Amino acid sequence: MYGMVNKAVENLVTIKFGADKWRAVKKKAGVTIEAFISNDAYDDSITYSLVGAASEVLGLTPSEILFAFGEFWVLHTARLDYGDLLSSAGRDLPEFLDYLPSFHIRVALIFPHLKPPRFEVSDRGPDRLTMHYFSHRPGLSDFVKGLFSGLGKMYETPLTVTQTKSKDQGAEHDEFLLQWGAVAAA
Ligand code: HEM
Repeated sequence: MYGMVNKAVENLVTIKFGADKWRAVKKKAGVTIEAFISNDAYDDSITYSLVGAASEVLGLTPSEILFAFGEFWVLHTARLDYGDLLSSAGRDLPEFLDYLPSFHIRVALIFPHLKPPRFEVSDRGPDRLTMHYFSHRPGLSDFVKGLFSGLGKMYETPLTVTQTKSKDQGAEHDEFLLQWGAVAAA
């Protein structure tokens, strides 16, 4: 994945747990790269090793780390570094979710070697929709849940995220029921 992803893991660990913990995570992961370059593509195994090592060093489960990383990605990385791109994708949460299937097409204009996820929307109602998530990368559904949770917080809109199908449990792809507004606040 692009260096910006590994850099975001570094920022998450450093800001929330301190620079010493980040050094320990890198050591445990066997990563000797001094500084990640945002626009360079790195092997996916580096990102997976960092997440695995962070889970051991910080005493959190991989699910907890991935969820926290998803929230951090939206609320910190995307908002600070790609604010215009993010805010132009929707004036409110439902509009952003409707647009999400096209979103990484625009991201790919900045990062030409992007191997983006694919999203599809179905069963759209006034306060809910089903989001289908397709990826050639395994094990990222908790990251996706954290991303949605971060979007709910960014738009200050109550949101519940329920995973209704899981690739890890044999489904063809992951599926999430997203409900927002009064139904989610209840
Ligand atoms: C300005 C905001 C965003 C930027 C710049 C961005 C950029 C990226 C980049 C660079 C990657 C790594 C892929 C690669 O290097 O091949 C990635 C992956 C990913 N992005 Fe985004 N993204 C943004 C927002 C979002 C949002 C809002 C969501 C979903 C709610 C999302 C879902 C994902 C997922 C699930 C992956 C993991 C890759 C996979 O599933 O195969 N991204 N994105």
